[in-house]
Amino acid sequence: MRVAFQLNGKPVETEVEPGMNVLEFLRSLGVFSVKHGCDHGECGSCTVLVDDKPQNACLMLMGTLDGERIETLEGLNARRRMELMQAAFLDEGAIQCGYCTPAMLLALESLLRANPKPDEAAIREVFSGIYCRCTGYVKPMVAAKKVALGEVDG
Ligand code: FES
Ligand code: FES
Repeated sequence: MRVAFQLNGKPVETEVEPGMNVLEFLRSLGVFSVKHGCDHGECGSCTVLVDDKPQNACLMLMGTLDGERIETLEGLNARRRMELMQAAFLDEGAIQCGYCTPAMLLALESLLRANPKPDEAAIREVFSGIYCRCTGYVKPMVAAKKVALGEVDG
């Protein structure tokens, strides 16, 4: 089937297998910030933004993508907030292997678009769907709070 959607601000129109999942498709395009984890909607490594909301790409089928607006970390590069998030994560040492980091940054971006001054509970909620295999939950929380409070020099 033919689908047309936006990927990181650019129109994409392509013939797809409707049952292929969006995670496989994006990685086949070289969008490697979207990570392959559990493949069952449990780890959040494959998070993408769909119309500003975090979604697990491994659970989305290409046939449902028509008309959607998809964003990955690649699409946030060079944006001011991305610079601030990166600076905060680096300053706080909030990255270990980094496998979950793209998902955390996208989840935080999504939250900040909806709520520029989120409290700790809101940040915890948005991070709750993302599994960090390195068990690094405290420092990403600290980094995210710094971004939310405008306390980052980036
Ligand atoms: S790979 Fe999609 S949630 Fe784990
Ligand atoms: S930093 Fe390794 S999985 Fe989170």
